[in-house]
Amino acid sequence: MRAAVNGNKGLFITLEGGDGAGKTTQINNIERFFEEKGLVVLRSREPGGTSISEKLRQILLDRENGSMEAVTEMLIYAAARAQLVRELIVPALDEGKIVICDRFVDSSIAYQAYGRGLGSIVREVNETATGGLRPDITFWMDIDPQAGRTRASKAGELDRLELEAMDFHYRVYEGYKRIAQSEADRVKRIDASLPIEDIRAEIYSYLEELCEAKGL
Ligand code: TYD
Repeated sequence: MRAAVNGNKGLFITLEGGDGAGKTTQINNIERFFEEKGLVVLRSREPGGTSISEKLRQILLDRENGSMEAVTEMLIYAAARAQLVRELIVPALDEGKIVICDRFVDSSIAYQAYGRGLGSIVREVNETATGGLRPDITFWMDIDPQAGRTRASKAGELDRLELEAMDFHYRVYEGYKRIAQSEADRVKRIDASLPIEDIRAEIYSYLEELCEAKGL
């Protein structure tokens, strides 16, 4: 498997953020942006996206698995990702497709390294899981954890991760803040409390820049 994405034909775009940050709406907008340019889009999500990874997703989100160890959780997320990267993402990028993924390695850094306190081992394991693949651009939908939880609980029953106490979600939030600071070139912070239309316009301007840089 090729080591890293930069330099291949397609584009790899990821969205990140706590629960209730409005990722789905913006993924729809991003898909439309590229389709209007006549480009082929592959949309996926984590954990999941392949038949094996969706089975792992069920284990991860099952509310009955409350006794899951943090390290077990981290490895299952990484396993689901390893399968998705090899089965879907890399082949699509090789064909010049635009891949939009709801969450990627940054989620594991935020939730498992910071939220669960597992630290730097999470990045190491994920280097193996992804073969070093990195997104071309990542949008971090920044929403206050308390506001996000209120939105998420209105949307339906909370899963195992969403059920965690608020201090867990504040650690996750801190993790995202650190990632955005340390990788400012790749990770664009989007204020998720803004009107949906303003968010769309901001994301589109980043995408125009990216397309220009990539000659798309
Ligand atoms: P999902 O229902 O897809 O959440 P959302 O709609 O908020 O994206 O559930 C994914 C959950 O798994 C979410 O709470 C975040 C968590 N998660 C991790 O803890 N680590 C990871 O590496 C990933 C990809 C997700």
